[in-house]
Amino acid sequence: MLSPVEPGLESEVRSGMLTTTKELCAEAQRKGYAVGAFNSVNMESTQAIFAAAEKERAPFIIQITQTTLKYTEPDELFAMIRSLSERATVPHAIHLDHGRSFDLVMRFLRLGMTSVMIDGSLQEDGKTPQGYDENIAVTRKVVEAAHAIGVSVEGEIGNLGQIEQADQEDILTNPDEAARFVADTGVDLLAVAIGTKHGLFKGTPKIYDDRVAQIAAKVSVPLVMHGGTGVPDDAVRKGVEKGIRKINIDTQIRVAFYDAILEQADRIRQEYADADAKGEVRKFDIRGVLAPAREAMTEAIRNRMQVFGSSGQA
Ligand code: G3H
Ligand code: ZN
Repeated sequence: MLSPVEPGLESEVRSGMLTTTKELCAEAQRKGYAVGAFNSVNMESTQAIFAAAEKERAPFIIQITQTTLKYTEPDELFAMIRSLSERATVPHAIHLDHGRSFDLVMRFLRLGMTSVMIDGSLQEDGKTPQGYDENIAVTRKVVEAAHAIGVSVEGEIGNLGQIEQADQEDILTNPDEAARFVADTGVDLLAVAIGTKHGLFKGTPKIYDDRVAQIAAKVSVPLVMHGGTGVPDDAVRKGVEKGIRKINIDTQIRVAFYDAILEQADRIRQEYADADAKGEVRKFDIRGVLAPAREAMTEAIRNRMQVFGSSGQA
């Protein structure tokens, strides 16, 4: 359960079961599990995330990214998230994932996020690596603004999740640099490069859990694993054991959605053929396609919550 918050700005953003990632991860730290952070892109994925958390009694983070802007106005998606948030009975945070610039983060902050990520490791194009000093400067600016209204901030150093050669030790987060970054910026959570990358892996990923332990020994804030899809369960558990407290999952939800949709497409083709053969009119039901996809996403998310150890913690 949520522990009482110190009087101050952080308690201001709390409402019902809605809280900050800082608080969720502090509780995970006390109990030794990781909080799952799942990407929402539409109504079905949003419902799946909340449903999975309720079924598992798992604290969780629902997150949206700026690429949402290409698909819908973020306030439309946020309104839906907020409405489910009000009815939720398990602690959760609403988080901006991979915010690429100060202005962008401010735009999402105004919606009512309780947590934001400023990814200053890359330039605004999301591809070109950004220098350490520039990363510190933009991260510190976001921390100042977000902390002024009680919102948690996740920062990132290194180029986790972007580089194909994610198994090369020289691109892993350096523990001393991580400690310096946290001290210089005041971030509440730190995303670290420990062998994962975004999207599916070619082959099996190698997770450097010793590096997690080395970073955790020098850094006081919770550590975040990005690119959680495809990381074998044992590797996830080892990472959690060594100090990972937030794990981001996006692709795995998309895979569940795609697989379910493909199954539905096969069913629809068969129904067309049957109707045509009988000389009947074809029938159409969008909900009949999306409901199984929503169910598949819910199950995929529940499975991750179990592996992260967050199930049953709310
Ligand atoms: O920020 C989101 C993620 O790190 C998700 O990575 O798509 O590999 O699960 P993924
Ligand atoms: Zn990520």
